[in-house]
Amino acid sequence: MRSHYCGDLLNVSAGENVKIAGWVHRRRDLGGLIFLQLRDRSGIVQVVIEPDQAELFAQAEDLRSEFVVSIDGVVRERPSDMINKDMLTGAIEVLASGLQVLNKSAPPAILIDGHEDVSEELRLKYRYLDLRRPEMQQKLLFRNKVVKKLRDFMEAENFVDIETPILTKATPEGARDYLVPSRTNKGSFFALPQSPQLFKQLLMMSGFDRYYQIVRCFRDEDLRADRQPEFTQLDIETSFMDEESIMGMMEKMIRQLFVDCLEVELGEFPRMPYAEAMQRFGSDKPDLRVAIELVDVADLLKEVEFKVFSSPANDPKGRVAAICVPGGAELSRKNIDLYGEYVGRYGAKGLAWIKVKQAGAGVDGVQSPIAKFLSDDIINQIVSRAHAKDGDILLFGADSEKVVTDALGALRLKVAADLDLVEKSWKPLWVVDFPMFEEDGGHLHALHHPFTAPKESNAEKLKAAPTATLSKAYDMVLNGCEVGGGSVRIHNQDIQAAVFDILGIEKQEAEEKFGFLLEALKYGCPPHGGIAFGLDRLVMLMVGADSIRDVIAFPKTTTASCPLTSAPSKVSAAQLTELAIASIVKNKE
Ligand code: AMO
Ligand code: AMP
Repeated sequence: MRSHYCGDLLNVSAGENVKIAGWVHRRRDLGGLIFLQLRDRSGIVQVVIEPDQAELFAQAEDLRSEFVVSIDGVVRERPSDMINKDMLTGAIEVLASGLQVLNKSAPPAILIDGHEDVSEELRLKYRYLDLRRPEMQQKLLFRNKVVKKLRDFMEAENFVDIETPILTKATPEGARDYLVPSRTNKGSFFALPQSPQLFKQLLMMSGFDRYYQIVRCFRDEDLRADRQPEFTQLDIETSFMDEESIMGMMEKMIRQLFVDCLEVELGEFPRMPYAEAMQRFGSDKPDLRVAIELVDVADLLKEVEFKVFSSPANDPKGRVAAICVPGGAELSRKNIDLYGEYVGRYGAKGLAWIKVKQAGAGVDGVQSPIAKFLSDDIINQIVSRAHAKDGDILLFGADSEKVVTDALGALRLKVAADLDLVEKSWKPLWVVDFPMFEEDGGHLHALHHPFTAPKESNAEKLKAAPTATLSKAYDMVLNGCEVGGGSVRIHNQDIQAAVFDILGIEKQEAEEKFGFLLEALKYGCPPHGGIAFGLDRLVMLMVGADSIRDVIAFPKTTTASCPLTSAPSKVSAAQLTELAIASIVKNKE
């Protein structure tokens, strides 16, 4: 049905006969000529139909957008004044000699040729049309290239691709599980994997040494632009490699990927301890394209009469910090109030500010509702510590350490985006030295997952000071997005049992949930560790998309549903009975 793809005609010499097939992207009737733009996945080419071919011309007059046609014709160069520089094949066209309509199309529910604002709901309902748009095709073709390059790297480094079960048992990665009822074991449920974590560790115990898989993971969690209920990981595990060598190899892979796919040289990835990331950037995934940093000022404010500052400044669990926004003195009261509302989402009770008019001139050199509470000396010290210049604004957080860190961490990104202060570059880094556990409402949680090795290898010492212990975990962060995370694992049964104990997982519960892992650790488990990359996130960043939905062929909405298939959907009473399940939700008939 065809001899060439439309986009490949670029490389065909003028005068050659070709046969092309695809969709009518656009039809224009001009001065007695008909111009078609014919589209296939490789691109678009212009087809010309001249009126002296009466039958062909009449046929072409009936063509509408998205009809599927095949065309015979001859390639010719366009006259120099007709060259379209915005089109890849803009220097040539095909003079048609034959036309076959392979299928008609109803008027498309969303325009393929056009940039009108279509709601995402509609785009997802007609995803097969949305995916015809050249920009969507390019994103998915790019994703395919990324996958191929990653596989090439893995294969070259001797990794083995092994599949792991989808119907399985809960794997704790911090989200809710998707459950699947079992018909053959009524009342029992499979969980879809949040990741293949336990299986890849078992594969190391089996001796496979280097495993990888491009694998779907399922997490029932609140969705955002960079989160989907099912997403894809490049999942990796190795034996006999320590943190340094794993990180080194993974960094090499990502560097190579960027050279191959984007011709971008990322350079060495800096390492930053978690504590430093939280202190300077208010985030465990700092966006280093934004120069604004959190500056601690509690030590200067212990004695001031302004309680909003002095009480957290004197509280060991409190934090008082500021960010300095270059040129921010231009911000209106209304803008500052909006930022105040914004940090409110992170629990901040207000947003004190100081506009710097003349640095070093004390109270007289600033404009601020709180200046009256502060002395010349304190103002000068704050301004100098924050490196604030005339025309800048200082925005303050004063509260518990968590509230201030989260609020100012988010605010620095928001302000930078609003004021165009984000550097246009690639800023990768490794975040390392995570605490092993974090406290939340009196309970300890594993910051990564409970199989991550602590830096303390003595079970008793670990139990004595769990919150002071760091882990052998590492996250790869790119432009403020966590693209991958992993760790060296526990390969010793005592340490694994101690970690479960610290997490408050009772012996019996540990046995029920992870008995098979504890058992396996007895039989000669090698030291091992690995990482998983969020493939969707990586591709999203590389193509410059705003959401991972744009790089997934059939994604779900933010309420985890699919407008195309109407999933999830009700099932028949008979199906539920067979599974021994009753739904407590009444149908709304
Ligand atoms: P983690 O939970 O950090 O680690 O996941 C690894 C990477 O997967 C991506 N990711 C997601 N992408 C899209 N939607 C989601 N809902 C989502 N959740 C996570 C992120 C993240 O960095 N088993 C461990 C890895 C290991 O220790 O080897 C794990 O799954 O980019
Ligand atoms: P108030 O004395 O409550 O009117 O607050 C004076 C200024 O301090 C206002 O600009 C408030 O937005 C700000 N403010 C109040 N609480 C906090 C807080 N916890 N952190 C930072 N600024 C605050």
